[in-house]
Amino acid sequence: MSRPIGIFDSGYGGLTVFRSIAERLPQYDYLYLGDNARAPYGSRSFDTVHQYTLECVEWFFSMGCPLVILACNTASAKALRTIQQRDLPLLAPANRVLGVIRPTAEVVGNYTQSRHVGVLGTRGTVGSDSYRIEINHFFPDVQVHQHACPMWVPLIENGEYQSQGADFFVKKDLDTLLTAAPEIDTILLACTHYPLLLSKIRKYLPAGIRVVAQGDIVATSLAGYLVRHPEMDSILTKGGNTSYFTTDDPADFDLHGSAFRGAAVRSQHVALNGK
Ligand code: DGL
Repeated sequence: MSRPIGIFDSGYGGLTVFRSIAERLPQYDYLYLGDNARAPYGSRSFDTVHQYTLECVEWFFSMGCPLVILACNTASAKALRTIQQRDLPLLAPANRVLGVIRPTAEVVGNYTQSRHVGVLGTRGTVGSDSYRIEINHFFPDVQVHQHACPMWVPLIENGEYQSQGADFFVKKDLDTLLTAAPEIDTILLACTHYPLLLSKIRKYLPAGIRVVAQGDIVATSLAGYLVRHPEMDSILTKGGNTSYFTTDDPADFDLHGSAFRGAAVRSQHVALNGK
């Protein structure tokens, strides 16, 4: 029986993280699930994000995944703690669910000279204050300036990330962030969708500001986790196979997903709770 690593996102964004994970750890089997039918998660309540994420985690467990990565900042911010502390001990105590916020917070303070970091994310991620709390846990001297960009995920999910409309919102949000905190020298893309906007983000940023995406950070952190946890590593199957699933239309997922994954994607539909 296959025992893959599960990679989860509300939609396509987790594919930017999976791209780095698959490059770094090609030997494992993977299941990717995008909950596209209910994306975006970014402006939804704690309860809703928890309920949707938990349903997806249970699906991963039913498919044989002992380890699930929430490659979604919104789900990591709003659902991970409850899943780890309340749900997992009841559902599957030997299984593990990991997020993307802690591994990112552990290293982002190493990139800034000015000690001012900008964090761009969804309303859910920014509103949870998770990044400020986690970054200050590891780097108490770093000032964290957060700004929500609620239009970015819808633009990306709808394939509008190369349009002039995207230019307008990218410029507007970067201007707002940098006007409030001109000392920022490092900007963290704290949403796994945002790397699709990287060229526009660079276009509107002054030279000298570093943009940090999460893919390589999360891949490095996962590699370290598997070394530190041989009991998990030994049960994961290593056939180098990946299967993609979406709660929405597989033809759409394949069409748009390849830009995020950086390779062709062929998905299957999965129905969760009647979806
Ligand atoms: N990729 C998700 C994140 O990192 C997008 C959230 C959403 O669905 O709005 O936050």
